[in-house]
Amino acid sequence: MAKPIAIEVYNPNGKYRVVSTKSMPGTRWINLLIEQDCRVEICTQKKTILSVEDIIALIGDKCDGVIGQLTEDWGETLFAALSRAGGKAFSNMAVGYNNVDVNAANKHGVAVGNTPGVLTETTAELAASLSLAAARRIVESDQFMRAGLYDGWLPHLFVGNLLKGQTVGVIGAGRIGSAYARMMVEGFKMNLIYYDLYQSTRLEKFVTAYGEFLRANGEQPVTWKRAASMDEVLREADVISLHPILDKTTYHLINKESLATMKKEAILINCSRGPVVDEVALVEHLKQNPMFRVGLDVFEDEPYMKPGLADMKNAVVVPHIASASKWTREGMATLAALNVLGKIKGYPVWGDPNRVEPFLNENAPPPAASPSIVNSKALGLPVSKL
Ligand code: GLV
Repeated sequence: MAKPIAIEVYNPNGKYRVVSTKSMPGTRWINLLIEQDCRVEICTQKKTILSVEDIIALIGDKCDGVIGQLTEDWGETLFAALSRAGGKAFSNMAVGYNNVDVNAANKHGVAVGNTPGVLTETTAELAASLSLAAARRIVESDQFMRAGLYDGWLPHLFVGNLLKGQTVGVIGAGRIGSAYARMMVEGFKMNLIYYDLYQSTRLEKFVTAYGEFLRANGEQPVTWKRAASMDEVLREADVISLHPILDKTTYHLINKESLATMKKEAILINCSRGPVVDEVALVEHLKQNPMFRVGLDVFEDEPYMKPGLADMKNAVVVPHIASASKWTREGMATLAALNVLGKIKGYPVWGDPNRVEPFLNENAPPPAASPSIVNSKALGLPVSKL
């Protein structure tokens, strides 16, 4: 018999049963579901990461849709269980969905949602925060103060790197990478070098125009360059931020060799996915190069860090909080709920995941569509004409 799982129920008489594996910020997502005749069950079990067995118990015999988290292993077993329970929709509360086996979902006819657009600026702001924290040694200095070690100003105390006029390198100039690049260029007047399979014309135009603006004001203009290879970025940039998706091609993209290509005093930021970086090689590199600094929001084996990383003073580490602003987290919950609701109600899929704002407007009902279904083509789902 399945283990009992603690749940909180809203609108018990609702026709459709929607399960959320975690409590999520805000209440709009719950209200939108119950207004459309859903019974909402939220798992309140005091366990941070639910196992596959826990989730099977939550799905039970009848479940129309599930909202889940990036820490869960959504593969064949869970999609089979959801489909047996009559479920047709699952949404990650995340933009990334490397925890989801989309082929298994296709096989069971389950739509897979994600939450793009709403976390772009929030995630880029965390990458910018880590860049500054690493460049100016904020965490080390904070620890020093709290330890009562400050006994007076000194010329050498916590000397870090000036960003102005240096080069920021972006690997993966999609929504988040481009937003980060703009922040660093505009805010700190850094020059940009980026590597992406696709040209980011909007980003290039922005940097060109900003450079002209600075020149017109008698200031040093900023510049941009699209690199022909990732190595070119690693060689030339002073601060490098990683924004690729995680798949077979980006696993350990940063490894012993690529670290050796970077400048000895470079700063590396990762707010994408942990396995993009070979963390064992990184720890070794940090040990060998005390002036090299890193800002990490994600780790190879979350929630763990590889041995030695926690002892490195040249590493700033935070617990996967890049999307953790109130507005973004509430918006992610809303998009995830609407993905599931849209499929249950037979709505079409929104045509442009770059423009999900209409779903986030608290003062108007959301469009009758699922905001972002990643396997809509494979499942032959209709696209919204709205
Ligand atoms: C967070 O890491 C996300 O993918 O949304």
